[in-house]
Amino acid sequence: MSKSFDVVVIGGGPGGYIAAIRAAQLGFNVACIDAWQNDKGGPALGGTCTNVGCIPSKALLQSSEHFEHAAHHFGDHGISLSNLSMDVAKMVDRKNAVVKQNNDGILYLLKKNKVSFFHGLGSFAKAVEGGGYEIHVAGAAAETLVAKQVIIATGSNARALPGAPFHEDKILSNDGALRIAAVPKKLGVIGSGVIGLEMGSVWRRLGAEVTILEAMPTFLAAADEGVAKEALKAFKKQGLKLEFGVKISKVDASGDGVVVTYADAKGEEQQLAVDKLIVSIGRTANTTGLNPEAVGLKLDERGLIVVDGDCKTNLPGVWAVGDVVRGPMLAHKAEEEGVAVAERIAGQHGHVDFSIIPWVIYTSPEIAWVGRTEQQLKADGVAYKAGQFPFLANGRARALGDTTGFVKFLADAKTDEILGVHIVGPMASELISEAVVAMAFKASSEDIARICHAHPSLSEATKEAALAVDKRTLNF
Ligand code: FAD
Ligand code: NAI
Repeated sequence: MSKSFDVVVIGGGPGGYIAAIRAAQLGFNVACIDAWQNDKGGPALGGTCTNVGCIPSKALLQSSEHFEHAAHHFGDHGISLSNLSMDVAKMVDRKNAVVKQNNDGILYLLKKNKVSFFHGLGSFAKAVEGGGYEIHVAGAAAETLVAKQVIIATGSNARALPGAPFHEDKILSNDGALRIAAVPKKLGVIGSGVIGLEMGSVWRRLGAEVTILEAMPTFLAAADEGVAKEALKAFKKQGLKLEFGVKISKVDASGDGVVVTYADAKGEEQQLAVDKLIVSIGRTANTTGLNPEAVGLKLDERGLIVVDGDCKTNLPGVWAVGDVVRGPMLAHKAEEEGVAVAERIAGQHGHVDFSIIPWVIYTSPEIAWVGRTEQQLKADGVAYKAGQFPFLANGRARALGDTTGFVKFLADAKTDEILGVHIVGPMASELISEAVVAMAFKASSEDIARICHAHPSLSEATKEAALAVDKRTLNF
């Protein structure tokens, strides 16, 4: 016997579980199917983000940052430690506990909102005459669901290098990178993107010699050039080794470690021998097991589900959100799309403003931005004014002992509307929210400059950068 629902969500990551909750809040009878299994074979809701992404990476970043502070910065505060050591197994256990709290929290939220949860792989069986779709759930208890509306949120998987599949022992995806059992002496990372920098930082802080090989000739091409330059300087000073413009030709894991053969920027052949290799060269959309052919769901040449600006697929009543569709692969983008789709199904006007989705890289210094970069404004031929304020001149940053970086404002030359805000420095991840709010309300840099910011706070650097647009900083 099949079970009927108004809305069936396939995937319980940030795109899926949030869409399910919002749809339930709007009065629909909702089911959410998710296949992720914990180590006991039970459900582990939250998708990539909770299990092998945002949450565990931030847990390890926190632990390793504490270690680095204890090893190198506590002395500045008069705190001395002897016999400092790192219990990697305990750090990983703590990370696993944080993940489990989030898994359980999401399961509770689904129950609280009366969303029916099905643990297993969901696949399209057929379109139902008169509207809707039949979906099979393969799992411990196989089920057939019938849905009037379907929201697909099946996420993404790590992309492997050709000829070097992930076995998560020596060649690691984000999954293996988050559960290395002991600090490797030498760690290689392919790709200096977000995962490479965050994971490379974790293991460098714990004592690994980390070398990152990047194909592009420049560092963090998506970030503002000034920010990328400042961050690169800081990472190199910390001891991260970065090489750009490389072309990997071979990855050999047949020996004790991994040997990467590559052509360097000059075209000369080089080899890098490491104990472990993290490959973080981007992610691919995941439609494994979804059986899109059964209903004629359209994918593009890269395997992404084709959607319009409203997340509608080519099929009536079928929507797709998050990493499995175009746009940045970010948890908060997936969530926003999930909410908007649920509201559209309810006949409301759900909206996602893609121009003000913030980016954060949780390294030290943190990197965060929203809106356009200076190089984008130049390419778009937009006349702009720039203002920048260094954390070196911020009292709170000095008290924290972390004065790396700056806040940078870009505003329209005529109207003063904020077009982009770029931060590299302490707590950039939190500071960026003010800029997102300001841009959502179409604020000018003068609006921020005129607002009272608490003293002493890092946010004063934001105000000062806004003042700098008009060349009237007060503390620099
Ligand atoms: P996912 O989170 O991938 O969830 C998809 C879910 O669907 C999974 O549980 C999967 O098992 C399930 N599924 C797939 N197919 C089926 C099926 N057929 N039937 C049933 N279930 C199915 N983003 C940020 O914004 N901030 C960060 O700090 C951040 N850190 C990250 C760190 C790492 C190491 C990685 C890898 C990613 C990080 N991301 C971060 C990206 C973020 O994890 C993704 O953008 C986000 O998880 C996408 O959400 P989603 O719901 O689209 O997909
Ligand atoms: P990425 O797209 O951020 O970076 C991949 C890097 O690998 C790029 O610099 C690219 O030029 C390089 N590259 C590609 N092919 C290569 C090759 N053959 N050899 C050498 N370098 C190569 O992808 P990443 O780091 O895998 O992360 C995937 C996504 O996960 C991110 O784009 C982001 O959307 C999400 N994420 C978000 C985080 C956050 O918000 N803090 C943290 C981690 C991941």
